Amino acid sequence: MSGFNVSADAVDPEAVPKKKLYTGAEIPGIGLGTFGSDRFTHNEVADSVRGALSVGYRHIDCASVYGNEDRIGQVFKDILAGGLIKRDELWINSKVWNDMHERVEESCRQSLKDLQLDYLDLYLVHWPFPNYHAPGCDITSRSPDAKPYRRENFMDTWRQMESLVDAGLVRHIGTSNMTIPKMQLLLRDCRIRPACNEMELHPHFQQPEFFAYCIDNEIQPIGFCPIGSPTRPDRDKAQSDTVDIQDPVIVRIAQRLNVHPAVVCIKWAVQRGQIPIPFSVYPNEYLSNLRSTVTEPLTDEEMREISKADKNCRLIKGDVFLWKDNQSWEDLWDVDGHITPA
Ligand SMILES: NC(=O)c1ccc[n+]([C@@H]2O[C@H](COP(=O)([O-])OP(=O)(O)OC[C@H]3O[C@@H](n4cnc5c(N)ncnc54)[C@H](OP(=O)(O)O)[C@@H]3O)[C@@H](O)[C@H]2O)c1
Repeated sequence: MSGFNVSADAVDPEAVPKKKLYTGAEIPGIGLGTFGSDRFTHNEVADSVRGALSVGYRHIDCASVYGNEDRIGQVFKDILAGGLIKRDELWINSKVWNDMHERVEESCRQSLKDLQLDYLDLYLVHWPFPNYHAPGCDITSRSPDAKPYRRENFMDTWRQMESLVDAGLVRHIGTSNMTIPKMQLLLRDCRIRPACNEMELHPHFQQPEFFAYCIDNEIQPIGFCPIGSPTRPDRDKAQSDTVDIQDPVIVRIAQRLNVHPAVVCIKWAVQRGQIPIPFSVYPNEYLSNLRSTVTEPLTDEEMREISKADKNCRLIKGDVFLWKDNQSWEDLWDVDGHITPA
């Protein structure tokens, strides 16, 4: 598909809520996810980016490991050349993958080339673990290449991230899949603070302490899997996982508003103060997710009820990042408040 028209159904991007970062920059309060996993082709995901921009999205969450930045770049090129949207109206994220922690600038330049952009609005360290696993591999077992988190290695990577800001290649830098102990060390030792932290956030996994820590430190939380990633591949599911869109509280509110429960998850996220980045290739879904930010809000009582529905159910456990035998995935997340020794 080529060409670009503003859809008749479009939401006015100016009406979509925005968040102010500590730098003073404004970031759109909802973005479109672009991880199609093995369920959707790269072209389908790129088409969803084109469609999402045509209905009013201005924030797109990309990553080199998703393997589709070159297709999405073609969309950006067409749209920017058409002049209907200007570069400074877009907010584009990308992320350095785990095998490039020692070559951050090279990774960033490749993403810029693929995305056909001169700069990124936000560049994230995708995971604090520097090991590699191929996308699509069995994520429920340990990778033989797994390496532990080490503060000094992470800071080496962060220094390279800071240099990208100095060089004008990126406007902001941030983190993803962090914990409070790891973030405390980063804030202690960094020269340029992270502007955003991308973290798993949905009604059944609210991370209240880490969320509050980010807000208190002027780090904007961006919430991935905001709908609880209901149709993720079976290999990414554990028996103990719960399903947000089947939660009775979410379902009841959805019935009151006559919307899909997914829309309630997005409304809750925006009203709570995180930036959700829901994925969908279906126009009716990504449009209703965007529209949810400008329609009737949840009541205070509904927000309270959802806050009590938390089940501390982490979906993206990261088992592949375990670096020695007999560890459990909880060790990756510093659950007792201490970083697990390497
Ligand atoms: N930083 C990280 O480590 C990290 C990790 C994971 C994800 N992410 C980012 O977060 C994004 C979102 O995560 P995700 O895709 O795993 O989970 P998600 O957004 O919670 O769930 C996406 C699924 O929800 C369904 N859906 C979306 N909108 C809907 C609607 N209005 N009504 C009904 N169903 C709807 C769709 O299922 P169907 O396709 O079946 O309709 C879609 O595939 C990713 O694309 C990626 O950009 C980042």
